Amino acid sequence: YLSATAEQGTGQVGVEAAAPAQTITILYGSQTGNGRGVANELAAKAKAQGYAVNLASMGEYKVRQLKQETLLLAVVSTHGEGEAPDDALELHKFLASKRAPNLENLHYSVLALGDSSYEFFCQTGKDFDERLSGLGAKAIQPLVECDVDYEEAAEQWQLDVLKGVKPLIQTSSASVVSIGSSASVGESQFTKQKPYTAELLVSQKLTGRDSDRDVRHVEIDLGESELSYQAGDALGVWFSNSAELVEEVLTKLSLDGDTEVTVAKGSLSLKQALIEKKELTQLYPGLVKGWAELSGDAELLKIVEDKELTRQFVLNHQLADLVAQYQVNITPVQLIELLRPITPRLYSIASSQSEVESEVHLTVALVEDERDGAARFGGASQFLAQAAEGAEVKVYVEPNNHFRLPENPDTPVIMVGPGTGVAPFRAFMQERAAQGVEGDSWLFFGNPHFEQDFLYQTEWQQYIKDGSLTRIDLAFSRDQAHKIYVQDRIAEQGQELWKWLEAGAHLYICGDAERMAKDVHQALLDVAVKFGGKTSDEADAFLEQLRTDKRYQKDVY
Ligand code: 2AM
Repeated sequence: YLSATAEQGTGQVGVEAAAPAQTITILYGSQTGNGRGVANELAAKAKAQGYAVNLASMGEYKVRQLKQETLLLAVVSTHGEGEAPDDALELHKFLASKRAPNLENLHYSVLALGDSSYEFFCQTGKDFDERLSGLGAKAIQPLVECDVDYEEAAEQWQLDVLKGVKPLIQTSSASVVSIGSSASVGESQFTKQKPYTAELLVSQKLTGRDSDRDVRHVEIDLGESELSYQAGDALGVWFSNSAELVEEVLTKLSLDGDTEVTVAKGSLSLKQALIEKKELTQLYPGLVKGWAELSGDAELLKIVEDKELTRQFVLNHQLADLVAQYQVNITPVQLIELLRPITPRLYSIASSQSEVESEVHLTVALVEDERDGAARFGGASQFLAQAAEGAEVKVYVEPNNHFRLPENPDTPVIMVGPGTGVAPFRAFMQERAAQGVEGDSWLFFGNPHFEQDFLYQTEWQQYIKDGSLTRIDLAFSRDQAHKIYVQDRIAEQGQELWKWLEAGAHLYICGDAERMAKDVHQALLDVAVKFGGKTSDEADAFLEQLRTDKRYQKDVY
């Protein structure tokens, strides 16, 4: 935390102690980095206009400081069923608690990010707005709710709030102060909007020939970029859509791919626009609604009237399915307007720079499905699976401060990572091995079949052999008549696991959020009851405390 004296002699301009009232505090609560990106842009704009800025993740912000703030701009996203991102949990709770201060001296504005295909759209942002206003704070701008294509609305909000801030404070010398360790302004020259063009070195199948799954080990060369990452971070990967898929869509719609269209003020052919600029492999509710209206199809019109049906439909279909199933007359311009811009995908990084230096490794499951005999693929995973050696891949690093190895290398770690959820634990193990860490480590891994799907088998065996990995417990779900999952192994090993927790172990879960992470959480509660002698309420409180102490971290999707 920076005080006015901290920058003495560093040549940096900071906030003067006498002028805290002139500082704009910008806080973000962000799970996938979008909120962080918007907050960074806002901080840069505010700085350019001569304002002093405190920029911080909500997770690093000291809630006690809130009562001294006079200007607060918050960007916060919402996940799943209306949940706050991890780094926003504490502040979110604090604002609703009895400890929350009177905020009559505060001017604020909230930008909410969300996904309108979920019922509790932008709920966390709505909560923040309501709670701040309930504590007496005055809104500079009303709450702005953004959908998945948030960029334009977020940009407008930035301009509006800075206009609103102007009459409230005088400008001082330009300065940006970051609280805590995530000094994100100017962190890397490569960002989501300005990615680094890297070279693909390897895209190799990890699963066996007879596996139901196609999981790839991907290696990317970061070359001279000087991009750096920590174990636990994610890599953002831009991709282009398959030309075959675009051909299919164009043919079925009887559209000419050579028609010139305009996208983001640039002119290009419809075909190129669909390959490079538009999201084709993920639907959103607005698109289904638009398609329902264009087609007049009674069945589809019924689906779009119901939020849950729409959510399911969006999850299980692509544009190509709409095109195949529901006839429409659509012009190139209408199609371009209906489709969202393509967005990069985030992958948990599977390597440590202590081991691989300027490379970055990913574990990528090819998303594949079949509908009426037609193969459907996930956009980025297909791109990575098909990319040839030497292909260009546009990437950036998305830091994840909520998934970090313990600072003390002697601290034991328990890692639960079925499927591709094992990726960050490969990074963890590389990091711990490179540092010659003595602390114990325990991996729970699961997948359908031992023979086909034991990702990185030889590497784990090597780590066990050289002692860097203390234990590994495996759950091959389909190698026997009944399913066995990682949570079953946790239950079996409950006594030992409880001992590790008592010895101060940190717990990590990575992988499927919808079912796995919830089931594993339940198994952990059961362990606390059965082997920790806790009541079910105490078990809840115990895991909550572990989470607050940063000893229970999740990277789930
Ligand atoms: P299944 O597909 O055989 O049901 C990685 O995807 C592994 O996670 C697979 O072995 C898969 O098993 C398993 N899995 C599926 N649902 C799960 C759940 N709710 N909890 C834990 N593992 C699960």
